[in-house]
Amino acid sequence: MSKHPLIQKFTAAGQGQVFAFFDELDSAAQAQLLAEAGEIDLAEVAGLTRTLLGGAAAGVDLTDLAPALYERLPENGGDAAAWAAARAAGEAALRAGSVAAFTVAGGQGTRLGYDGPKGTFPVTPVKRKPLFQVFAEKIRAAGRRYGRPLHWFIMTSHANHAATEEFFHAHGHFGLEPARVHFFRQGRMPAVDFNGRILLESKGSIALSPDGHGGSLRALARSGALDLMAREGIDTLSYFQVDNPLVRCVDPAFIGWHKLQGSEMSSKMVPKAHAGEKVGHFCVQRGKTVVVEYSDLPAAMQQEKDDTGRLRYLAGSIAIHLLDREFIRRMASADEGTQRLAFHRADKKIPTVDAAGRPVKPDQPNGVKFELFVFDALPFARNPVVIETARADDFSPVKNAAGADSPQTCRDDQCRQFARWLKAQGAAVSTDASGLPDAGLEVSPLFGYDEQTFAEAWAKLPLKPAVADGLYLE
Ligand code: UTP
Repeated sequence: MSKHPLIQKFTAAGQGQVFAFFDELDSAAQAQLLAEAGEIDLAEVAGLTRTLLGGAAAGVDLTDLAPALYERLPENGGDAAAWAAARAAGEAALRAGSVAAFTVAGGQGTRLGYDGPKGTFPVTPVKRKPLFQVFAEKIRAAGRRYGRPLHWFIMTSHANHAATEEFFHAHGHFGLEPARVHFFRQGRMPAVDFNGRILLESKGSIALSPDGHGGSLRALARSGALDLMAREGIDTLSYFQVDNPLVRCVDPAFIGWHKLQGSEMSSKMVPKAHAGEKVGHFCVQRGKTVVVEYSDLPAAMQQEKDDTGRLRYLAGSIAIHLLDREFIRRMASADEGTQRLAFHRADKKIPTVDAAGRPVKPDQPNGVKFELFVFDALPFARNPVVIETARADDFSPVKNAAGADSPQTCRDDQCRQFARWLKAQGAAVSTDASGLPDAGLEVSPLFGYDEQTFAEAWAKLPLKPAVADGLYLE
């Protein structure tokens, strides 16, 4: 009988089933299983079983909830001078090199069903550039503009880390200096059955999955990324998701609002498209900014209107944030008992093995995965700022293979954006009523990555190209 200390520990914690087939494994597989088990914090799993699986699992607290305040865009009644000051402050921060880009790319991308890291998915309308290339070119162009090449942090998962690094190598890091592109893996959490017993995926491996985008805070600390930032004089991370090519990877006005207000965590909102839109809602609760998920905000509240007839809970979260380095460190620290993110529970169909070790593919949820959400850090942040952004300039995610938030809707939104930029410069672009051009349009971020940089580059073109038959501008 094996008496490895880890096996004893698991057995004592009531998790001995993890090693039920240990003696059948060859020594390499045994070592692999022990390594996986070594990643697991048994006390954490026991705590989650009590709090999230116990009969008294609490629902979301909706008491004292009110809509969050946000800074409106100047065109929607915001203070134009304050926005201009913010932009100037953000540009100064970019010139000083105190901001880095940060992409969370550790998700499993199950809804898209694409074989490979999601960041390698071909997303642009004409050239079919992959998501990572779009971000790389935006980051390169911003570095050039501000005279300070940016650092870029990319969080991967165990499943896609090697493939992600290989992809960047194979493409010469899309022209970025490799020393400024930093990959690190996020943590994993074991899936458990409804009694809190850790599930095996096969006889020799545990059902482990990424610990959610909120796991980025502890992964940034654990990987040494925060120390690297400190050495490089970087105090702010510009956080965005790998599935959203419209995002302004580093947005000077946003950065300026964050810095001028002394915020530890800032966020962008868009007015919800309709009452039932499936986005989180920025709210305040007893003086703290919180995000309440669409599934947790009762339908009646989602439909409430204010005196002007607008939705009361209007501010939708689009998963774009700025994070202060030392705030991340504080949130990641295990000592700050009360300041840690809380895990969420998701009931899932988890492939596993039966008592005889035979594979089981459940057709009903058979267990629970635990995930951390980054927006749960907001209530702990000093002076959190929420600013409005135009959806068309910042948000069109690729989530599903077809229908809403799919590659097609995202390509169309990119074309609409390029058509708007061209029209604003007086180019003749024929579009339908939704602003979708008749022919495919694409502007390389290296030509222009937002309306202003595009306008400047367009003005310099001695001969303006015709747009009617489609266009790629580089
Ligand atoms: P989603 O919530 O869209 O999840 O992630 P997903 O795993 O990518 O896709 P589905 O739900 O399986 O279809 C939003 C962002 O958070 C990142 C994703 O990579 C994406 O950029 N993420 C999510 C992580 O980095 N780690 C995670 O554990 C979960």
